[in-house]
Amino acid sequence: MTESRKPLMAGNWKMNLNHFEATAHVQRMAFALTAEDYEACEVLVLTPFTDIRSVQVLIEGDKIGIKYGAQDVSEHDSGAYTGEVSGSMLAKLGCGYAVVGHSERRQYHGEDNSTVNRKALAALRHSLTPIIAFGESLQIRESGEQVAFVLGQVEQCLAGFTDEQARASVLAYEPIWAIGTGLTASPEDAQEVCAAVREWLVERFSAETAAAIRILYGGSMKAANAAELMAQPDIDGGLVGGASLDPDEFVTMVRYRLHAS
Ligand code: PGA
Repeated sequence: MTESRKPLMAGNWKMNLNHFEATAHVQRMAFALTAEDYEACEVLVLTPFTDIRSVQVLIEGDKIGIKYGAQDVSEHDSGAYTGEVSGSMLAKLGCGYAVVGHSERRQYHGEDNSTVNRKALAALRHSLTPIIAFGESLQIRESGEQVAFVLGQVEQCLAGFTDEQARASVLAYEPIWAIGTGLTASPEDAQEVCAAVREWLVERFSAETAAAIRILYGGSMKAANAAELMAQPDIDGGLVGGASLDPDEFVTMVRYRLHAS
């Protein structure tokens, strides 16, 4: 982590917590988090669409420093796309972020890198920060091809991006074999890929742009391993699934700085 990149701890709730539960959850986090915590680390919850309005009312009403966003966004801005939610709708609800390309979207909804590229651009059109997710399967990891594979994904996900669009995005390296499995990439393995992505950003954009973009790690990140992952120079935050469903554990992760060895 360098000074120019503020750490970001993002809780990806997936399809958990209804809007009543979401409100209680955010209240509990807000009760525990201090001004120093918000100063040291950006805190973000990525909720189901149905929770967003309730979370907005609570956060704005009580002036809570937690940010909120969505787990997906349509590539379209409006129209006959049954079941989709547009970037402008999310922006209207005060969302700051939207995840695009999560491996569960890729696996269960047939999204590929070009879909992810269009969704990221849709988010940017509405001033949402896309959190662009990518990562290799176990098979690719075992073949030792993870760096080449991930760089191919990033290249396609960021196709046509300007420097400005890249700087307005967050990247998230999530090895599929580590998601929800309890298997975490070792800090060194995660750093290897994140460093390669940053080097690629230097080549594709510029050293300044590469230095400004936050790269998150995701995959069985929890309170017990957050500090060692965050100690890696090219890991700027976490995209946290299971462990974000426990507000106390997630707050402990936001405070990884107090647990560094
Ligand atoms: P996990 O999920 O922390 O439960 O492994 C991470 C993610 O899928 O974003």
